[in-house]
Amino acid sequence: MEKHACRLLCISLLCLLIHSRSERDNVKESLIAFLRKLAPENFQIVQDLNWSISTDPCVGTWLGVSCRPGSRSVETIVLEGLNLDGSIDADLLCQASSLASLSLMDNSLTGDLQPGIAGCSKLIKVNLSKNRLSGSLPSSLGRLVKLKHLVVSSNNFSGDLPPSLTKILGLISFLADNNHFSGSVPEFNLTSFKEFNISFNDLSGPLPWNSEKFAQSSFLGNSGLCGKPLSTTCPTLHKSKKIVNTAVMISGYVLLGLSFVLLLAYISMGKKKIAPEAMKAGTDRKKVTSASGKKRVTPYPPGDHLVAPPSQSATASSMVMLQKVGIGELCFEELLKAPAELLGRGRFGSLYKVVADGGVELAVKRIKDWTVLGEEFQRKMVSMDQVRHPNVLPAIAFYCSKTEKLAVFAFQNNGSLFNLLHDNNKGRPFNWSSRLRVVAGVTSGMSFMHRSIIGHTPGHGNLKTSNILFSSAMEPLISEYGLRAIPSAGSDPVDLPFSREADVYAMGIILLEVLTGKLNEGSDLAQWVNAVVREEWTVEVFDRALLAEQESEASEGRMVRLLQVALKCVDPSPAARPTMGQIATMVQELQTAEERSLACVT
Ligand SMILES: *[C@@H]1O[C@H](CO)[C@@H](O)[C@H](O)[C@H]1NC(C)=O
Ligand SMILES: *[C@@H]1O[C@H](CO)[C@@H](O)[C@H](O)[C@H]1NC(C)=O
Ligand SMILES: *[C@@H]1O[C@H](CO)[C@@H](O)[C@H](O)[C@H]1NC(C)=O
Ligand SMILES: *[C@@H]1O[C@H](CO)[C@@H](O)[C@H](O)[C@H]1NC(C)=O
Ligand SMILES: *[C@@H]1O[C@H](CO)[C@@H](O)[C@H](O)[C@H]1NC(C)=O
Repeated sequence: MEKHACRLLCISLLCLLIHSRSERDNVKESLIAFLRKLAPENFQIVQDLNWSISTDPCVGTWLGVSCRPGSRSVETIVLEGLNLDGSIDADLLCQASSLASLSLMDNSLTGDLQPGIAGCSKLIKVNLSKNRLSGSLPSSLGRLVKLKHLVVSSNNFSGDLPPSLTKILGLISFLADNNHFSGSVPEFNLTSFKEFNISFNDLSGPLPWNSEKFAQSSFLGNSGLCGKPLSTTCPTLHKSKKIVNTAVMISGYVLLGLSFVLLLAYISMGKKKIAPEAMKAGTDRKKVTSASGKKRVTPYPPGDHLVAPPSQSATASSMVMLQKVGIGELCFEELLKAPAELLGRGRFGSLYKVVADGGVELAVKRIKDWTVLGEEFQRKMVSMDQVRHPNVLPAIAFYCSKTEKLAVFAFQNNGSLFNLLHDNNKGRPFNWSSRLRVVAGVTSGMSFMHRSIIGHTPGHGNLKTSNILFSSAMEPLISEYGLRAIPSAGSDPVDLPFSREADVYAMGIILLEVLTGKLNEGSDLAQWVNAVVREEWTVEVFDRALLAEQESEASEGRMVRLLQVALKCVDPSPAARPTMGQIATMVQELQTAEERSLACVT
C-alpha cells in the first residue's frame, strides 16, 4: 500500500518536472520566434544576440534579456536601436508571461500592437517609442493592471486612444506624442501622473481632469484640444460673447464700407435724390449680413406657420446659421413661411418637419417657453456648436425672439431607436451586434457631452429612445442635447430630474429597452427586469429576437454583462450609479470583444 502511494507520488513529481522543463523550452522557443519576427530579413539576429534553445536566458548569455534575481523567469527584454524592421508578435512574446519590462524603442518596427499584448499581464513598463508602428492601440491594454509606464511616442499610431487606459489605476506615465491619434482624450485622472504627453496628434475636445499640472508642451500641436493649461478655453459664456462682438464689429465694417461707396456714388452722380433710399438699403443690408457667414434674417409675420412673432422687433428676433447646408444659402424667410408638418409634441416642445426651398428637409424644434431665457438659449446653442461628436446631432441654425425659440436640424429620414425597437411592422432586422454598435455610439456621445461644459448644462435632461435618431448611414445621433432649460431654483415645471445621474438612469432604461425589446411604460421596465433577474430567470428578460439569433455563448455572456451595466444605471440611489464615462468604457469593451469574435468567425 505504502509502496503504491510512493510510486504515485514519484510519477506525479516526474510529471511536474517534465512539465516545467518543457514549459521553459516552450518559452525559449517562443522568444526566439518573436525575435525572428522582429527582424525577418536578418537571419543572423538570433546568433548575434546569442539567444539559443540550449542556453538559459537567465544566466546572462541572452543579450537584451534579464531575469528576476534568484528566479528563472524572464523579467526584462530590451532591444533598442537595433534596426529591427519586422513586427511585434504579441502572442509569442507573452509566452514569457512573467515579463515586466519591454523596450523596443528606436527601431523601425511596423505593423500594429496586437490585442494579445494583454497576455503579458505582469507588464509594468512598455516602451515602443521611435518606430513605425501603426493602427490603433488595442483596448485590451486596459487589462494590464500593473502597468505604470506606457510609451508609444513617435510612431504612426492612429485612431482613438482607448478609454480602457483610464482603468489602469497605477499608470503614472503615458507618452503618445508624435502619432496620428484622433478623437477625444479619455477621462484620465492626471492627479497621480508623473509624465503625460499627447502633443502632435489630431486629438480634440476637453483635456482630462487635472491636466493643468502639466505644461502646455504636453498638449501642443492638436487642432481641437481645449481647457487648461492650453490657452483655448472650452466653450463657455465668453465665447458666445466674443462671437456677438465680432458680429457687431463686422456688420459695422460692412456699413462703413457701404457708406463709403454710397458717398462716392453720391459725389459722382451729383444727385441728392439717391441719398435716403441708399441709406435705407444700407440698413437693410446690415440686418442680413453679419459675422462669418452667419445670417440674421427678420422673419415674416405669421400665417398658420412656424413662427408668430408679435411685432416687427427686428433686433430681438433673428435666425443665426451655425452650419452651411448643401444648397448654398438657405433662405430662412422662406423657411419660416413654409408650411410645417407637426411630427410630435413633447414635454419640452413640439417638433415640425419643414421642407425649405431647394427641397432640403429640416426638423424644427419649437421650444416651450416657460423658463428658457433668450440669452441662456443663445449661449447654449452657440457653445453646443463648438462641441461636436459624431453621435450628437448638431443644430444647423437657431432662432430666438422674445416669444419664440427654435432650433433647426437636418431632418433624419431613418427614424429613431424607438421606431427600430418597437415598430416591428417595418421588419427591419436589428441583431445583437448592431444593437451593441448603436449603444456604443450613444454612450460614447453622451460621455463626451457630459465632459464638455455646455453652457453649464447638467446634461441632456430628456434622453430616451425616441431622441436617438439614425443618420443615412444608420449611425446613431443623439438629438435634443442642450434644449432643456436649466430649472431656476425649484421652478422646473416638469417633474423629471435634470442631472447627470438622471441621464445615467435614462441611459439604463435605453439599455434595457435594447436588451428586452420591451417598451418602458412608467418606470416599470426596470422593476420588471430586476424582478426577473432576482428570480434567476435572467434569460427570460432578453428580446426573443436576440435569443433566436443563436449567438455564441460569448455573445450571450456579453448580453448578460450589458444587462448588469444597465441595472447599475437604474440603481434607485443616484450616487450608486456609474458615470457616463464608465458606462461608455464598459460598453466599448463589450463591443470590441464582439467585433473581434465576429472577425474570427468570418
Ligand atoms: C554567448 O553564449 C555563450 C554560451 O553559449 C557564452 O559563452 C558567450 O559568452 C556568449 N556571448 C556573449 C557575447 O554574451
Ligand atoms: C522609453 O523612452 C523614452 C523616450 O521616449 C526614454 O527616455 C526612456 O528611457 C525609455 N524607457 C525605457 C525603460 O527604456
Ligand atoms: C502611417 O499609417 C498610414 C495608415 O494608417 C499609412 O498610410 C502611412 O503610409 C503610414 N506612414 C508611415 C510613415 O509609415
Ligand atoms: C482624481 O484623483 C484624486 C486623488 O487620487 C481625487 O482626489 C480626485 O477626486 C480624482 N478626480 C476625479 C475626477 O475622479
Ligand atoms: C511632448 O512631446 C513633444 C513632441 O515630442 C515635445 O516637443 C515636448 O517637449 C514634450 N513635452 C514634455 C512635457 O515632455
